[in-house]
Amino acid sequence: MQQKQRQEVILFYNSLLSAERAGVEVLSSLVHEIEDNNLKIILGIFMRDEGINCQIFSTLIKNSGEEPGKKTGDFVQKVKLLEKIEDKINLLLKGQEWVASQIRKNRSLFIYGSEAMFMESIKIQHEENVDYLKRSISSS
Ligand SMILES: [Fe+2]
Repeated sequence: MQQKQRQEVILFYNSLLSAERAGVEVLSSLVHEIEDNNLKIILGIFMRDEGINCQIFSTLIKNSGEEPGKKTGDFVQKVKLLEKIEDKINLLLKGQEWVASQIRKNRSLFIYGSEAMFMESIKIQHEENVDYLKRSISSS
């Protein structure tokens, strides 16, 4: 693969790594703030999945001979500025949609089957999270 394209892939992985790190941080607070027990369990699953994703992105970057970035996305600050739990859940939903859309938009970057498979799986996982949050919002 051309060096320039590989750099583009690593930039993309680092951008999602910082987003997933932010996801872990946001979800670990939300899990304590949420009173609804079912939602608490589901957000715990989301949080652990985001943690796995951080590992996947870090590994893919290291396998390319680079060091993963250390940034955490500004999503954490955006959620902290909100007071109502409903608004935080709504923003979480948008964040989940954003990750899925980023993977859809950048599909052409993943030329290795194994990397494409990880990205597809992370995309589907975020779409499932969006579906769950939408159902949970409409039933509350
Ligand atoms: Fe995520």
